[in-house]
Order: sequence, then C-alpha cells, then structure tokens
Amino acid sequence: MDGDSPLEQPHTSRIYDYFLGGKDNYEIDRQAAEEILRVWPDIRTAARVNRHFMHRSTRFLAEAGIRQFLDIGTGIPTEPNLHQIAQEAAPNSRVVYVDNDPLVLAYARALMEGGEQGATAYILGDVTDPTAILQAPELSQILDLNEPVGLSMIALLHFVEADINKILSTFLDALAPGSYLVICTITADFAPEQVAAAQDVYRVRKLPAQVRTRDEVTSWFAGLELVDPGVVPPHRWRLVETFEPSPAYDAKISCWCGVARKP
Ligand SMILES: C[S@@+](CC[C@H](N)C(=O)[O-])C[C@H]1O[C@@H](n2cnc3c(N)ncnc32)[C@H](O)[C@@H]1O
Repeated sequence: MDGDSPLEQPHTSRIYDYFLGGKDNYEIDRQAAEEILRVWPDIRTAARVNRHFMHRSTRFLAEAGIRQFLDIGTGIPTEPNLHQIAQEAAPNSRVVYVDNDPLVLAYARALMEGGEQGATAYILGDVTDPTAILQAPELSQILDLNEPVGLSMIALLHFVEADINKILSTFLDALAPGSYLVICTITADFAPEQVAAAQDVYRVRKLPAQVRTRDEVTSWFAGLELVDPGVVPPHRWRLVETFEPSPAYDAKISCWCGVARKP
C-alpha cells in the first residue's frame, strides 16, 4: 500500500465530511479531524455556516438569472448539493463540478445523477490548472462560456498555496460579462492561535493550508462589482434569519466570504 492510499493519507474532502457528520471518511481522516477539533472546537459549526453560505449564495445567483454554475472544490456530496439548490430555483440550471479528490467524483457520480431538467457534469481537476478545467470536454458539453457563469470556490482556497490572483484572472478572463465569483475561505484575522494550530495539523500531514487576511480576499475581487454586504464572515452575508453575531462568533467561524459580478 503506498502513501497515497486513502487509508494512509488523510484528505481535506473526507476531513470536512467528518466535520459535517458524513460517513465517507476513514480512520486516518477522523484522527486528523479530531486533532483539529481539539484546537478549533467550533470548526463543525464553521463548516455548517460555510455550507449555508453556499445555499444562500447559489440561490442569490439563481435569482440574479444565472443558469450555469462552475463549482470548484465541490466536496463529498452533502444534501442539498449546489445543483439541487440551483435547480430548485431554476430547473434548467446546468452545473459543472470540479474536485481534485478522485473519491469525491466517485461519490458524485453515485449521488448526483438524476432526472433533473438541468444537467450536471464532473471533472477531476485541480484549481491550480485553470486552463485544463476550462478546456475539459465535459465543461463545454454543459456550459456555454459565451453566457454568464456562476464560478464558486467555497471552502477551497485555504487549501491552495499558489498565486490566487493568477488563478482567478485565468478563470475570469474566460467568463462572459455578467458572470459571478463566489468565495469563502479561512482567515486568521479573528483567532490567530486557533487557526494557526489547525493549519499545523494539515501541514504536518503534507496537506496545503493557507489563511488569508480580509485585504487579500478583497483584492481577489478587484475589477468586479462586489455584491452587498461585501467581504464579510459568511454568517453576516445576507442572512435570512434574525441573528446578531458577536465578535466571539466571528472567531468561531474564522472565514471571509464574498460574491461579485463581472461587469
Ligand atoms: C472543505 S471542502 C469544501 C466543499 C464544498 N465546496 C463546501 O463548501 O461545502 C474542500 C474541497 O476542495 C477540494 N480541493 C482541495 N484542493 C483542491 C484543488 N487544488 N483543486 C480542486 N479541488 C480541491 C477537496 O478535495 C475538497 O473536496
């Protein structure tokens, strides 16, 4: 058995699945997740808040008229998935999912194929190679890049140490005006010690882990029209419920998110 076996090497998708109460994870993933929980006890809440941000931002895009979605860093399917939210709002929505974990795609095939009026496709791809994703035949079968696309990278970019601005500009250059960019990513701005300790758990396992400041995340939206309320923690982004988060709650969640439109 080599070091890449899922029994020997934890993966971010399965650690996240464990935080969300899923069953698609191995002992090696649960060990890493438990270690993270010791230093960041509220990370399960953060994962759920992040997931709810995906629900609200996808609905927002659908209501804004977006019918094509490119979701990178999809994760192991967790109901409702992005295509279910989008197709509930607009049944003809078309969704391309991308993840670099082959296991995610195995589960995606099993769980996401259905009789929807829209269409979905899956690409085993890495966000650090935007050209390969944009040129994948599965993408052009589902998405028309002459029409606007909702590009989401939710709880993904903290696993990417490469130059995010370069990655984003390659994607955004390929997308039509009226497209949207949706991001949610971990920050150490609120609770530096907690987040640094969690980052160490990933890094000692050779999993990339990179936190960003609010200024860095804001810079990723340069040249785009940021949707109100701008770059905020995900539980402060267009909440439907009445909820007054405290600064302590911001520290529990420790993420920045934002949605912006390409003019
Ligand atoms: C924390 S999960 C987020 C899942 C989902 N987007 C959500 O917010 O609920 C992060 C996902 O990103 C994937 N991922 C990590 N690095 C990636 C990369 N470089 N390219 C593509 N996917 C990646 C992982 O396999 C995992 O499924």
